Amino acid sequence: MASNDRKPLISGNWKMNHNHFEAIQTIQKLAYALDKDDYQAVDVSVHPPFTDLRSVQTVIQADDIPVALGAQNVHQAANGAFTGEISPTMLQKLDVTYVIVGHSERRELFGETDEIVNAKAKAVLAAGMTPIVCCGETLAERNAGHAESKVAGQISGSLAGLDAVTIGDLVIAYEPIWAIGTGETATPDDAQQMCAHIRSLVMSEWGSTTAASVRIQYGGSVKPGNASELMGQPDIDGALVGGASLDAGDFARIVKFPLYQA
Ligand code: 13P
Repeated sequence: MASNDRKPLISGNWKMNHNHFEAIQTIQKLAYALDKDDYQAVDVSVHPPFTDLRSVQTVIQADDIPVALGAQNVHQAANGAFTGEISPTMLQKLDVTYVIVGHSERRELFGETDEIVNAKAKAVLAAGMTPIVCCGETLAERNAGHAESKVAGQISGSLAGLDAVTIGDLVIAYEPIWAIGTGETATPDDAQQMCAHIRSLVMSEWGSTTAASVRIQYGGSVKPGNASELMGQPDIDGALVGGASLDAGDFARIVKFPLYQA
């Protein structure tokens, strides 16, 4: 495990999968597969679709499961005429702890800019929740040698106007777009290099205390077989898991990565 005080956060992003019946089964199976030692070593969150949140919240609370409830997206406004959108206070009322903002699928498929992501991150914080702010480059950008500058722009744009203490408490997820859902994972060295780059960006804009405390997740084809090596990198503080989080057994094996580390 990374030699620092940052508790790893393993988050399951279910994307547009699992209806509320399947969601209930998945959280129950996950709770059965994890034990006290797992929760002591690792923070865990699940991010079901909006239609499942109430069902999953009810199971978590009824059975006292130490898994944090997360959302995949949010609108930046408090309320109003925004048909089809969900506000931060609606999520907060469901005891949502973490909200993913600026996922590459939102950026690429739904046109979210750094300015929008920044407004969403601020709205999540104002409602007392923690944003998981995503960044990451395309394959073309990586091949052209622009990966670091792309991510640097996303970080300063998405976190603009936030103070150092606030940034120290939030979560950044580095998800190279070419590794999402493709089965292709960044090598632990590549992932480490970018996460260290992100930490150094945070250090230069917001200082060393903030850089030492902000948690940086890696996402992109994280599986039970590669989790422990990725999590062993000094600047990787957890994972944002897509496909492998849909199966409670696979996700539990990822959460249990410390057992497989030397
Ligand atoms: P996969 O784990 O399916 O590659 O998805 C990663 C991701 O986008 C998590 O947010």
